[in-house]
Amino acid sequence: MVKFFDTKFTNEMKIAVLDALNNEKYVMGESVFKFEEEFANYIGTKYAISVNSGNSALQLSLISLGISESSKVITSTTSFIASANCILATGASPILCDINEEDGNIDINSTNENCDAIIPVHIYGNPCDYESVKARAEQNKVPIVEDACQAHGALYKGKKVGSLGEVGCFSFYTTKNMTVCGDGGMITTDNEEIANMTRSLRDNGRKSPTEHDKLGFTMRLNTVSAAIGRVQLRHLDEMNKRKREIAAIYRKNLDEDCILTENPKGEAVYHQIVLRHEKRNEIMEHLSKNDIGTMIHYPIPIHKQPLYEKFNYNLPKAEDFAQKILSLPSYPALTDEEVKITCEKINEVIITFEKIQEVIK
Ligand SMILES: Cc1ncc(COP(=O)(O)O)c(C=O)c1O
Repeated sequence: MVKFFDTKFTNEMKIAVLDALNNEKYVMGESVFKFEEEFANYIGTKYAISVNSGNSALQLSLISLGISESSKVITSTTSFIASANCILATGASPILCDINEEDGNIDINSTNENCDAIIPVHIYGNPCDYESVKARAEQNKVPIVEDACQAHGALYKGKKVGSLGEVGCFSFYTTKNMTVCGDGGMITTDNEEIANMTRSLRDNGRKSPTEHDKLGFTMRLNTVSAAIGRVQLRHLDEMNKRKREIAAIYRKNLDEDCILTENPKGEAVYHQIVLRHEKRNEIMEHLSKNDIGTMIHYPIPIHKQPLYEKFNYNLPKAEDFAQKILSLPSYPALTDEEVKITCEKINEVIITFEKIQEVIK
């Protein structure tokens, strides 16, 4: 049996949790500020502001940039729904873009609409084609909010994603490359005003201990979550290295007809290792019969979700992509042997399919 996902609650994490609970305030304890400082150092930004989820990171970033009812914000339709819901939550209008099939990332040239901000998603931990997004942002004179919720540690032209745009947003949800064993998020920026604004917004719009001058929320990261995050951050590079090794084993052992969804321009961190093949359903079924777990990220592109259907988007590449993709097991604890068995089972389907095609010819 090969599980789709597995995670470990290590002794180092247990000790950090108990230490934080025994010695710190449960809310806004010392671990929160240390985690923020260490995360900012890791990403290479001046500031990091922790919040209670990736969705909150995106929402507060947009609000701090002045996005409101009269605004339009571009994002990609191939993503988790939060990449677009954060736009609706501000009252702004989402403009959903089609994608590049090679890496599943935004094709900014699939829309000509003007906008007030752009949210490129580094989907699956693949850095997007940032140059094209930046060119459009410069043309429109609008900020970029990177949705780096799946891309902790990924590099684009030698720089960490989350440090490229005006703001970067991260999620620490359980399945991410690093987690706080629950929900959590981080905003990264070099902009002091955005840092101050998001710090206040996550804390009920607090101006001083007793004054509130804006409409804010309770979106702080708990101290115990930050303590776990600090341990995870220390191990992020080694976990990402293992994920890259796993991707290399897949690449080497999969039939040449199998395409992995990657962008050779960036250094990915393989939040998901995603296969693209027209026999996706057959591959998924065969793996399931052999006790190998898989998932689809995402079976329904955002524009086809019930909440977004009223916008009537037609984004054919993303729709076709959703029919062909399959996320394979990719967690660091996976053994080389488990990856090779998975490849063997995938190849069995593809070879059978190729033989049938030969006979038909
Ligand atoms: C691309 C992307 N954006 C945003 C989010 C939202 O993060 P969270 O689940 O922490 O709110 C996620 C997480 O699932 C994500 O994968």
